[in-house]
Amino acid sequence: MIRIPRGTQDILPEDSSKWRYIENKLNELMKLYNYKEIRTPIFESTDLFARGVGDSTDVVQKEMYTFKDKGDRSLTLRPEGTAAVVRSYIENKMQGYPNQPIKLYYNGPMFRYERKQKGRFRQFNQFGIEAIGAENPSIDAEVLAMVMHIYESFGLKHLKLVINSIGDANSRKEYNEALVKHFEPVIDTFCEDCQSRLHTNPMRILDCKIDRDKEAVKNAPRITDYLNESSKAYYEEVKSYLTDLGVDYVEDPNLVRGLDYYTHTAFEVMMDNPNYDGAITTLCGGGRYNGLLELLDGPSQTGIGFALSIERLLLALEEEGIELDIEEDFDLFIVTMGDEAERYSVKLLNHLRKNGVKADKDYLKRKIKGQMKQADRLNAKYTIVIGDQELENNEIDIKNMATGESEKVKLDELVQYFKK
Ligand code: HAM
Repeated sequence: MIRIPRGTQDILPEDSSKWRYIENKLNELMKLYNYKEIRTPIFESTDLFARGVGDSTDVVQKEMYTFKDKGDRSLTLRPEGTAAVVRSYIENKMQGYPNQPIKLYYNGPMFRYERKQKGRFRQFNQFGIEAIGAENPSIDAEVLAMVMHIYESFGLKHLKLVINSIGDANSRKEYNEALVKHFEPVIDTFCEDCQSRLHTNPMRILDCKIDRDKEAVKNAPRITDYLNESSKAYYEEVKSYLTDLGVDYVEDPNLVRGLDYYTHTAFEVMMDNPNYDGAITTLCGGGRYNGLLELLDGPSQTGIGFALSIERLLLALEEEGIELDIEEDFDLFIVTMGDEAERYSVKLLNHLRKNGVKADKDYLKRKIKGQMKQADRLNAKYTIVIGDQELENNEIDIKNMATGESEKVKLDELVQYFKK
């Protein structure tokens, strides 16, 4: 038997209504903040991620689904959305659009070859936003407040917003030098990847999945001690806007994020439920990326964004015991008696549905009792029973399933009945 690939999942009808509810709500929230949807391809040139996300990140080194197409081009199933959105911004010259900054959101599958765990998949669905074209602490704070608004609007309460600044390129240069000095004497005890990262990208040692719990990682120099004056001032302003907005946060000077493009504001939203027993608690991650556009041969614009996975949002909802307010209503189930009635019901259903009535019938030649059970299972608001007599009189009893009451209605006036 062929089975589903490891780390992927089917979203079955009983769950897809939750997904649709979440996605609809996210679309509505985006209207409040004036973000417009962008859809980019599922696969991109491998170079985009190697350059954009960073050659020495775990994502690029270990987790990408990369393949050659029949034209010998190296393509990669997108592991994240930011690089692709920035690619599209540059390619479509969005810096010239009249409305600035450009505020975009996306929602779709991403692919990473990771170890399967609760809340971690190889195909997962990210909802994300990117605001490109404004370097202003107020937009950083707005993005952070928006993330929290999104989670709160689903009723989640046990959340923690963790923030940090990883400064500008100059601050990072000094910091990297300090990291090299710190790790050099002990680097032999680290994995091969970390050894090769020491001189190319020492910050990546801090979030290596193999070594990140080592003592030397825990007491490594902290980026916040290496921020230059302008980076510090930017960070202070972001925090003061957050205070104005009443957004609670905690600072974590060790939060460096796993992708190379970040500068200044970096953040994650974590589950903060003491009873949660899973290993994965990060629901969402994001930050500012001031050099990414230029790195991808674009204009010298800057951006900020975040992404969250719907899988982890569902996990958090489950943990907090939150039921989504999903209404799945169904109007009418038609019970038929005899061949004539069955034949007639096909035409009637066609007419009802074309007039906006959600309706169905039996297809399995069930007895009356079985058809009634089917009406119950569908949670139909109304049922009708059509037999020879009803056809002859052009009149049926329509039964309201909630009250048990019936009314007489002309068969050819059913649509008007529902419209009323
Ligand atoms: P990231 O931290 O790699 O950032 O991923 C963001 C979120 O995607 C995570 O917090 C988590 O909710 C979800 N996620 C990541 N990997 C998995 C997985 N294997 N299974 C389930 N969910 C997962 C980014 O991707 C950046 N592009 C975010 C960003 C946007 N930064 C700026 N703009």
